[in-house]
Amino acid sequence: QESVQLCGRGEGEICESSRGKIDAGNKVTVVLGAQWGDEGKGKVVDLLATEADFVCRCQGGNNAGHTVVVDGKEYDFHLLPSGIINPKSISLIGNGVVIHLPGLFEEGDKNEKKGLKGWEKRLIVSDRAHLVFDFHQVVDGLQETERQAQEGKNIGTTKKGIGPAYSSKASRTGLRVCDLLGDFKDFSTRFKNLVQQYQSMYPSLTVDVEDQLKKLKEYAERLRPMVRDGVYYMYEALHGPPKKILVEGANAALLDIDFGTYPFVTSSNCTVGGACTGLGIPPMNIGDVFGVAKAYTTRVGIGAFPTEQLNAIGELLQTRGHEVGVTTGRKRRCGWLDLVIVRYAHMINGFTAIALTKLDILDVLDEIKVGVAYKLNGKRIPHFPANMDVLHKVEVEYETFPGWKTDTSAARKWNDLPAKAQNYIRFIENHIGVPIKWVGVGKSRECMIQMF
Ligand code: GDP
Ligand code: IMO
Ligand code: MG
Repeated sequence: QESVQLCGRGEGEICESSRGKIDAGNKVTVVLGAQWGDEGKGKVVDLLATEADFVCRCQGGNNAGHTVVVDGKEYDFHLLPSGIINPKSISLIGNGVVIHLPGLFEEGDKNEKKGLKGWEKRLIVSDRAHLVFDFHQVVDGLQETERQAQEGKNIGTTKKGIGPAYSSKASRTGLRVCDLLGDFKDFSTRFKNLVQQYQSMYPSLTVDVEDQLKKLKEYAERLRPMVRDGVYYMYEALHGPPKKILVEGANAALLDIDFGTYPFVTSSNCTVGGACTGLGIPPMNIGDVFGVAKAYTTRVGIGAFPTEQLNAIGELLQTRGHEVGVTTGRKRRCGWLDLVIVRYAHMINGFTAIALTKLDILDVLDEIKVGVAYKLNGKRIPHFPANMDVLHKVEVEYETFPGWKTDTSAARKWNDLPAKAQNYIRFIENHIGVPIKWVGVGKSRECMIQMF
């Protein structure tokens, strides 16, 4: 890795050719959730991954649940990038991801039984990624119980230890892949200190430290061949011969720790900045940013949801859309498409195009509504509110569209769609101000109409 030459020159030399013109190298394509998650990112990544050389995860952990349907077989990915399905591509788990090693290997082994071959040889893991330990997951549960007791409500986390692991990272007591693969005695001491720290906060927390360390040592040896310095690895991928590099966002804009519906969010940046910080790549290497939005809205867990339909419409969307969490098995809350949030997600991410998924789920509706603005005390509010009390109080202004009442699942091109569905899509496109590049009409790879 010392042999990596910055911009093809020797260390310390001035690069004459770069004066006045910087060659950014290859561009990466980023796929991000534009709502509260489960928009169909896995499906979009799978579609793009068939031509990708690298598919990278940059943030989150196994709180994500991405479904991919290929040749009638359904795979679900949590920590592994969905692109691992493509036998010709390399998958990378970046420094911004938090990794639960038992979860990672369990996921890989489970998918291997379904037919995913050789995944361990095609997976690269950054040495700077933080580890999620079993006790982080227990603490996640304890924190939820504590929230319920103190505030009468919790967040509804996936209990995968994501919040506690990112807390350890931010408080600088976390342990990383490079620590696990380094001096194990030192790792053990730091692991014990971390356990003690949590036990002083949660006296009921019991951890069999020796058993945990024994298991971690075994995981370390299985992991070792996959580990690289992620920064140098990405730099080489960006500056070598032309390569197609894909970044698979997890979670979504409204779950982002900074921009989401805080505190009912996850603990990482699920917006475009997370791609840079979570992989160590410069902003100038970001190319297309594809936002994935469902043709309606869903949310798992607690928190404000202005267009939620707690009625027959919500139930229909839930059952027709099979809206059940991939990670937790919880029913997803459902409601109309909310363009206030998708526009807000676009302001942060700068989408270059949108993939609109699950249009087919709306096929049976007599009429379809779309949230276009929020009102407070009868007046339109200009911003997406930061304060959750305000978001709970907003009244949604809707546009109503006649339903097309036609099965769209066999549509493969724009002209196959009924005019009323085309009208719905064009309205969304114009309202967000971003072209819609794909429209999803079914679960599998081929059920994606490409518009341009
Ligand atoms: P992700 O977390 O964003 O990858 O999305 P999930 O996989 O959690 O949830 C999306 C669900 O919708 C999965 O079951 C997909 O197979 C399914 N899906 C994706 N696109 C479409 C579509 O266009 N139509 C239908 N009917 N299902 C879709
Ligand atoms: P994908 O990638 C839907 C939600 C949880 C909870 C909140 C915090 O499949 O779209 P966490 O365990 O992250 O601390 O939970 O965030 N959440 C998701 N909801 N899809 C996801 O990922 C999610 N990842 C986290 O339900 O409300
Ligand atoms: Mg999901």
